[in-house]
Amino acid sequence: MIQIAPSILSADFSRLGEEIRAVESGGADYIHVDVMDGHFVPNLTIGPLVVEAVARVATKPLDVHLMISPVDLYLPAFAKAGAGIISVHAEATLHLDRSLNLVKELGCRVGVALNPATPLCVLSSVLHLVDLVVVMSVNPGFGGQSFIPHALHRIQTIRRMIDDRGLPVQIEVDGGIKPENIRAAAQAGATIFVAGSAVFSRPDYGAVIQTLRDNASA
Ligand code: DX5
Ligand code: ZN
Repeated sequence: MIQIAPSILSADFSRLGEEIRAVESGGADYIHVDVMDGHFVPNLTIGPLVVEAVARVATKPLDVHLMISPVDLYLPAFAKAGAGIISVHAEATLHLDRSLNLVKELGCRVGVALNPATPLCVLSSVLHLVDLVVVMSVNPGFGGQSFIPHALHRIQTIRRMIDDRGLPVQIEVDGGIKPENIRAAAQAGATIFVAGSAVFSRPDYGAVIQTLRDNASA
C-alpha cells in the first residue's frame, strides 16, 4: 500500500485551510505537519495552536513530525490538538522508550524518526513499540532539500529488521521525495512518502500526488 503525506511546510500559510482541502481532494492520505523548535533543528515552524487549526479543517489523519527537544513535555498538547500520528526523533529524547510509550498512552499512533547519520541499532529496542519508522532522507530543518541516496540502504536494512521480526511496522521516508526518486524508495521498502515541495510547487496537487502514487507502485 502506497500512502502519500504532503508536508504543509511548503504550503501557502496565508491560505492553509484551502491548501489542506486541495491536497486532500487531490488524494493525500495524511497531512504531514513539521514541528520545529529552533533548537533540535535550525528552524522554527508551528506549535499545537496551528496543529489544532489544521485538525479542524483536515479529514485525513495528521502525521505530526516533532523536531523538538525536549519532547515529552509537549506530547499531551499535540495529542490534544488532534494529531493522529506523532513521530519523535530518537536523537531528541534521552528516554526514547518513555517518549514512545507516552505517545501511545495519549491514544496516538507512534513513529520513531531517525536522522540520516543515526545508527540503526537504536531501533532494535523500540521497533516492537512503534507503528512506523520515519527515515529522514535529508537533514531535518527545511523543505526543498535534495534526497540523500544513502537513505535507500537504510530503508532496506530497516525493512529487513521489521520483516525478520514479523512486525506490522511501516516505513515512512521524509525529505526530497520527487516523482523521479519515489520508486527507488518504494522498492527499498517504504510505504508512506512525505512530499512537501514536490506537491506544493506544482499548480495541480491532484496530478502530482497521482504521479507520485503511480511511480511508487510502477
Ligand atoms: C524536513 C521535513 C520534511 C520536509 C519535506 O525537516 O521533515 O517533512 O519538509 O519537504 P520536501 O519534500 O520539500 O523535502
Ligand atoms: Zn517531516
